[in-house]
Amino acid sequence: MAAPTYARHSQALRVILRHSTFKRLLNFIRVEMEFRLRKTRLKGKPYILVVDPTNVCNLRCPLCPTGLLEPGRKGSMMPWETFQSTIDQLSPWAYKVNLFNWGESLLNKETTRMISYANDKGLATTLSSNLSIKLSDEQIEDLVNSGLEFLCLSIDGATQETYEKYRRLGKLDLVLENVSRILECRNKLGKKLPILEWQFIPMKQNEHEIEKAKELSEQMGVDLFRCIPVGLPFDSREPEKLGQEWLQGSL
Ligand SMILES: C[S@@+](CC[C@H](N)C(=O)[O-])C[C@H]1O[C@@H](n2cnc3c(N)ncnc32)[C@H](O)[C@@H]1O
Repeated sequence: MAAPTYARHSQALRVILRHSTFKRLLNFIRVEMEFRLRKTRLKGKPYILVVDPTNVCNLRCPLCPTGLLEPGRKGSMMPWETFQSTIDQLSPWAYKVNLFNWGESLLNKETTRMISYANDKGLATTLSSNLSIKLSDEQIEDLVNSGLEFLCLSIDGATQETYEKYRRLGKLDLVLENVSRILECRNKLGKKLPILEWQFIPMKQNEHEIEKAKELSEQMGVDLFRCIPVGLPFDSREPEKLGQEWLQGSL
């Protein structure tokens, strides 16, 4: 198994080739130069946007501040107007918007509309989802038709027993059914996008299922399979204890 990587360099090149305009390219070069010159006053604008449609999640992953119900903020959905004005301000310079961060984006009923809006403004769009949600045929079709380019599937196991140790409250059968329905819909509509990536976070409790999950992803026709490194909560008071519990290779 290849060493886990976080950056998707191949996707970055694809996004640049597909979404470049003169303004975006100039801004990209400016930002990279300012970064290398260690400038503290910046003229460049962000070329990748991270917009979380909600800070609420349906799962209770034990290393995630949202799953631990720790954000210290009230759970809410981003209003459409906030999203629209952010995209209107930044889309002339930005290449891409990641429509996820710490919540489960598909819980916000406006997320598919947000993807379509960003797509219409010429932005690349990426979503990461646990997909452990009941979705209607219409919702699946809207998602595939939204212009979404990249869909990351957070699935850290190949059996319910292993999967739910980290993805607490998650239902693997439902997730896999949704993956199949998205792929079927994509085929039916004759589309190549979104690209689906099965993302697996190897930890103590699931490392024995990496190969099984990879085989399953190939059987199902998922485009990519990738392992990423596990992270511990930034402000954990007991990082060693958590490490012992979850990290591979710890005693
Ligand atoms: C916090 S989730 C929120 C988005 C969405 N709900 C999902 O499950 O994909 C964002 C990303 O963080 C990843 N993630 C969750 N726990 C993690 C951990 N302990 N270390 C590294 N990445 C993690 C998820 O797999 C996902 O790709």
